[in-house]
Amino acid sequence: MAMNTRIVLARRPEGEPADDCFRVETVELPELQDGQILIKVCWLSLDPYMRPRMNDMKSYAKPLQIGDVMTGESTGVVLESKSDKYRPGDHVAAHLGWQSHIVADADNPAVMPVDLANGTLSAHLGVVGMPGRTAYFGLREVGKPKAGETLVVAAASGAVGSVVGQMAKILGLRAVGVAGGPEKCRYATEELGFDACIDYKSDDFAKKLAAACPDGIDVYFENVGGAVTKAVAGLLNPGARVPICGYISNYNDADLEQAETPFHILKRLDSVPEHRFFLVTEWQERWCEATRQLGQWIKEGKLKYRESVGEGLENAPEYFRGMLKGRNFGKQLVKVAD
Ligand SMILES: NC(=O)c1ccc[n+]([C@@H]2O[C@H](COP(=O)([O-])OP(=O)(O)OC[C@H]3O[C@@H](n4cnc5c(N)ncnc54)[C@H](OP(=O)(O)O)[C@@H]3O)[C@@H](O)[C@H]2O)c1
Repeated sequence: MAMNTRIVLARRPEGEPADDCFRVETVELPELQDGQILIKVCWLSLDPYMRPRMNDMKSYAKPLQIGDVMTGESTGVVLESKSDKYRPGDHVAAHLGWQSHIVADADNPAVMPVDLANGTLSAHLGVVGMPGRTAYFGLREVGKPKAGETLVVAAASGAVGSVVGQMAKILGLRAVGVAGGPEKCRYATEELGFDACIDYKSDDFAKKLAAACPDGIDVYFENVGGAVTKAVAGLLNPGARVPICGYISNYNDADLEQAETPFHILKRLDSVPEHRFFLVTEWQERWCEATRQLGQWIKEGKLKYRESVGEGLENAPEYFRGMLKGRNFGKQLVKVAD
């Protein structure tokens, strides 16, 4: 009998999710029914949005319930198929949680084919996957970038931020990153081609950011919130746009509903920039466009990426905690199987 290892939410965290917020379970896989496929998961993606999902609070998505499989996307290979849609050996992405094996209806919209012509199986969880698409649509559609403008993005070495900054360069903008520590900043400038990258943990961060943006800021791609947003706010030019992608600095707050969010910080300004929260799913019908374009830029050497690979599904909680506080350097993945 084939078995599935999965990680479920055992208790809601207060602050950083401790080990006992998660439970590893090993369960028998159900027998495959007509129209279903069995997926062997090779890679699991760990993403910041999973942390708010562990809270019992109103959000754009329903909170996880105690006992639910932790939410998450993975990529893998079809082992068995009772559907015409997939054959054994096909590569797929599935947004069906932290699991080693998945039995799913082939028609489930949470399961998508993966075309390795656009990037590796792991890259489909990062640079050409959901985070890459988030950068692609958030910047183009909400940031409305124009050549010659200055863009600032934080979490600049991460999955979304690294793509935002490199896309800004492709589109002819000045790209200024913000990241935690000199190594990540060096990577953003020397390897990714950002014009500057400022360490938000360094002394005089706000002064250094102002010096790196002599013409002010036209697009601030919001990933982190908090102190970084406050430093950016005073530098925003009239007409600036702020796509609000997320605000990770608040995600481990004991009460996220009481947090001072980027909305609070921006609304206090005399000249309030154009800003809105967006979700990558708003452009779901255009996902292929983004995946193809991002894959093309990689082939042309215009888009580089880095992955932080953790080993073993049972270690996912530790890598997840690390990602929330910047221990990852690039897209955080867990290698579940070869
Ligand atoms: N709206 C959407 O549809 C959507 C989709 C995907 C992602 N997102 C959002 O995009 C943002 C980035 O996600 P990602 O997947 O690309 O993650 P990531 O950048 O690969 O990893 C998270 C990074 O956040 C940074 N960070 C953590 N705490 C911070 C703090 N207090 N201040 C500043 N930076 C901090 C860390 O980098 P440093 O070491 O540089 O601090 C860490 O490496 C998140 O806010 C996420 O929720 C939104």
